[in-house]
Amino acid sequence: GPGDATAVAHPNIALVKYWGKRDEQLVLPRVDSLSMTLDIYPTTTRVRLAPDADHDHVTLGGVPAEGEALRRVVSFLDLVRARAGRPLRAVVDSHNTVPTGAGLASSASGFAALAVAAAAAYGLDLDATAHSRLARRGSGSASRSIFAGFALWHAGPPTATPAQADLGSYAEPVPAPGLDPALVIAVVNAGPKAVSSREAMRRTVDTSPLYEPWALSSRDDLSEMRAALARADLDAVGEIAERNALGMHATMLAARPAVRYLAPATLTVLDSVLQLRRDGVSAYATMDAGPNVKVLCHRADADRVAHTLRGAAPGGPVLVAGPGRGARLLPE
Ligand code: DP6
Repeated sequence: GPGDATAVAHPNIALVKYWGKRDEQLVLPRVDSLSMTLDIYPTTTRVRLAPDADHDHVTLGGVPAEGEALRRVVSFLDLVRARAGRPLRAVVDSHNTVPTGAGLASSASGFAALAVAAAAAYGLDLDATAHSRLARRGSGSASRSIFAGFALWHAGPPTATPAQADLGSYAEPVPAPGLDPALVIAVVNAGPKAVSSREAMRRTVDTSPLYEPWALSSRDDLSEMRAALARADLDAVGEIAERNALGMHATMLAARPAVRYLAPATLTVLDSVLQLRRDGVSAYATMDAGPNVKVLCHRADADRVAHTLRGAAPGGPVLVAGPGRGARLLPE
């Protein structure tokens, strides 16, 4: 009923990356990005209004949230409360199905599910575009997990006021008819993350001489990516994704001090992706703020690709994902 809503959302992997903000407060990106929402590891989040509580109660996987994780959820709820004109505190219970230690970021699915559930619980009637803008405020990449399949997140046009800028930055679905892709994820264990992606992004924009050139080339990557998706050209999609990701990591390697997420095992997996291509398999790699490698291929080749990656990166699990659904409310 009113005041109680549960939503589910899936992670997404960017093929043209979001890296760098132009406004930290509003989470406005420096570049457009484009991703595929996955069909694995959903996050389910329930939000209940708590009329008698004087602060928010947040659990993640049944464990009370604290520190930075709690702070991010509470300030997100503050946004929803301000918009709804309702000061009530809430009880938030979020469950993420990503196995711990798998090293797969959950902020995208987490804030997409929270945006949809919190908006409903506080009585906001939002369409998908508005959900996307709202989810963006929690974590930029969450703006894309609102949508199924491929999604393009607009950085937004230059604007006079922050309110206009907020309106201009949201994701939308990108149809890719005829494409039947899979993402094979090789989990490379490299211990705890050295630098948060938030801090790494900031440092890269502030200090890397390679950042501006990458951001510029990312515009071409995006327009070529859209064309490649429209003609269902998986090889072109993969080539663009791979060069965009390697370029993003180059910007970080050139930051001062350098940010390096790629581990020795990451490069071993990249070598096996090259070998797959030499053997005639369409397989292309992308990496985010961690050592894991996500390999784009035709769904029909996914088992062969997974088998090869298992041989290359013994230890970590190898998972196969397809295009997944957008964020949605669960029926009561
Ligand atoms: C490398 O969305 O986690 O995965 O907006 O600061 O929460 P914040 O960052 P986040 O960054 C994701 C960066 C990336 C690339 C991408 O998903 O586009």
